[in-house]
Amino acid sequence: MPNAEKMKITNMHAIIILLYALTLGACSKQANFDSDNSKQTYQKADLQTLRQAPFPIGAAVVPSTLKSNANYRNIVTTEMSSISGENAMKMNSISRGRKSYFWDDADYLVNFAAENKLRVHGHTLIWYKHTPTWVASFSGTKDDWKTILKEYIQDVVGRYKGKVASWDVVNEIINDDGSLRDCIWLQKIGPEYIELSFRYAHEADPAALLFYNDYGQEWSHARRKAAYHLADSLVKNNVPIHGLGLQMHTNVARSVNDIRYAITAAAVTGLKVHVSELDVAVNPDKKLTAFNETVAQQQKERYRAAAKAMLDIPENQRFGITMWGVHDPSSWLSPNPDWALPFNNLFEKKPAYDGLLEGLYQGK
Ligand code: G3I
Repeated sequence: MPNAEKMKITNMHAIIILLYALTLGACSKQANFDSDNSKQTYQKADLQTLRQAPFPIGAAVVPSTLKSNANYRNIVTTEMSSISGENAMKMNSISRGRKSYFWDDADYLVNFAAENKLRVHGHTLIWYKHTPTWVASFSGTKDDWKTILKEYIQDVVGRYKGKVASWDVVNEIINDDGSLRDCIWLQKIGPEYIELSFRYAHEADPAALLFYNDYGQEWSHARRKAAYHLADSLVKNNVPIHGLGLQMHTNVARSVNDIRYAITAAAVTGLKVHVSELDVAVNPDKKLTAFNETVAQQQKERYRAAAKAMLDIPENQRFGITMWGVHDPSSWLSPNPDWALPFNNLFEKKPAYDGLLEGLYQGK
């Protein structure tokens, strides 16, 4: 890496650490980037597929598409080293009633991962958007609510103990203004539902890495501040939280530096960092009718920035990057033409794919 580039990165880290310390106070665990000696160098020849990246790169997948589409399956098994269920492990997918479960899709993913030596990241135990109807109509005391929270989390995490490496324990729990998001668990149990969810998951599988996953850290200071403050207080209270998930549904109208900043700033918490739902939409204002070279290059820059920023944080904090889908038509943004992923509708590599690999080359 050229000295000028090294200086730039060191200065940026120093500024971020200073900003973070000024806004939040000292962190319980601070990453020391300046003395980090874990950086390695990677050459193009060493990186022919995403699977050879120095940290896991993965995708959100759908069981029915894995079963039915050989091209889709082939990309997952040759390029990815980690999978998240796009929907299969959400509460409303698994839970059919109290102590009544639908396991088929989640089991399929876990078995598929074992056969193909892929890591499974569990997404997601608790999310305000996915409250099954039986939960919404449940009636009981605060302790009863804690019991059903514990039952659900421990039945799911326990079933996949040793097979699912990590979980998004709570998803999207902070509002845009930084306050705690309303949800049934907050109403019935209070803010304690957050730490209880982590503790219950940890009891069921002490080896699983546990994440708080949320969006918007790359564009909102209020979200960043609130998320890191929450993580910091959980750590201080000995809650078993191991990482932060930055969803990073972004687009070419947003700056490359925002991506880098969000990843670097998250690492200052000392927790593992997962870019958990990366996609880069190229058509945010819906004016494009076709993918073109200009937006392809803008998209590539953003994928490259994410890979490079993940490489630049200390090795033990690089949980990895998960893309939210495999190829453009499998994106949640489809059928809007957003061309947000690194593989196109013909399962061909796009410039965004090269961007991910280039982000890992020394000096790029
Ligand atoms: O599978 C059913 C189908 O049987 C039914 O006929 C149809 C009718 O609406 O719905 C289908 O389910 C849809 C499901 O996606 C599968 O396509 C749900 O309605 C739809 O709500 C669901 O959307 C998912 C969304 O989360 C809500 O769960 C998206 O696929 C998924 O990409 C999206 O992922 C979220 C992350 O979990 C959290 N972060 C944001 C991200 C994007 O919104």
